[in-house]
Amino acid sequence: MRRSPAAILLAASLLFGAPAAPAGEATPEALVDALNAVFGKHKGLRASHAKGVCAAGRWLPTAAGRELAPTPLFAGEAPVVARFSLAGGNPQVSDKSRTPRGLAFRVQLAGGGEHDFVLLSAPVFQAKDPETFLGLLRARAPDPATGKPDPEKAKAFMDAHPDTKVLPAWMAKAPITASYATTPYWAIHTFFLTDARGERHAIRWSFVPEAGVVGLSEAELAQQSDDFLADELRRRVAQGPAAWRVRVHFAEPGDSLDDPTATWPEKRRTVEVARLEIREVAPAGEKGACDPLMFAPDNLAEGLAPSADPILAVRTAAYAVSLARRTE
Ligand code: HEM
Repeated sequence: MRRSPAAILLAASLLFGAPAAPAGEATPEALVDALNAVFGKHKGLRASHAKGVCAAGRWLPTAAGRELAPTPLFAGEAPVVARFSLAGGNPQVSDKSRTPRGLAFRVQLAGGGEHDFVLLSAPVFQAKDPETFLGLLRARAPDPATGKPDPEKAKAFMDAHPDTKVLPAWMAKAPITASYATTPYWAIHTFFLTDARGERHAIRWSFVPEAGVVGLSEAELAQQSDDFLADELRRRVAQGPAAWRVRVHFAEPGDSLDDPTATWPEKRRTVEVARLEIREVAPAGEKGACDPLMFAPDNLAEGLAPSADPILAVRTAAYAVSLARRTE
């Protein structure tokens, strides 16, 4: 029997347990080149989420988390190194813009293990696979003839790829964040969690701010500077921790496991497995401990594993390209 190249790739990935390689042109280098083409190259800064602030805190698993799964991630309290950011590679982006906010943090587990979360303030990403994301970035890049982006080109691309419209539609309805601490975050992709009986479950993560989801009105936004978010967080955390309830949602048959633009219905079994507390923020003008780090969405504690989501599969390699370029 002759097998197609796709079937051979799939068989190879199953055999070796590795995520399928990004197909076609959407290599990690090509994705970072395309980010640089849209946002410019900024020495020493991340190719995306260039603007951000370092923070630190604690990871506090709940009794329900400990009961749910024997992963070291739910075993006990642990320190956290974190970074809050704005999406995109423009370090001057305004804190009032309607771009997703990011939260990345590393849980330093007892016994030397680590678990990274690399989250956005939306439950969906802007493309279902790396090829579509690369096409979108290329359609948004400045036209070499004019030196300016052509909005018609980006619109035509998005019309031809409806999955690229899901995130902007979600962001258009969400309030513009009053604080990094009043923002909900999602890991978006599906992961697998092994429970106490050794059974694997498809799950997704959400982070619900204890301070509530608070946005700013147009009038309130007009009062703010373009760089208010880091200072606001510093002032807030000086009064007490900023905290999130960390929830695991379980898939039901038919829920998409590999499309980061497809949400799951609200009514899914949910367990609150931990609380994230941010207790310190790097002083203004200082880079902080997170700056040289690379948070990797597949750097997972024992008992957790990535799904076959093709965006998840390419992210870590793209982040490594960005890290290599920003530390050159
Ligand atoms: C193919 C899709 C994607 C590409 C090519 C991409 C690319 C990048 C790159 C190059 C960086 C800078 C990494 C570094 O220098 O350390 C970055 C940072 C980041 N990305 Fe993505 N990304 C993608 C998808 C996503 C998704 C789906 C999420 C959320 C679920 C996300 C959340 C973040 C966050 C929060 C940061 C900032 C990390 C930090 O503060 O160090 N990205 N991304």
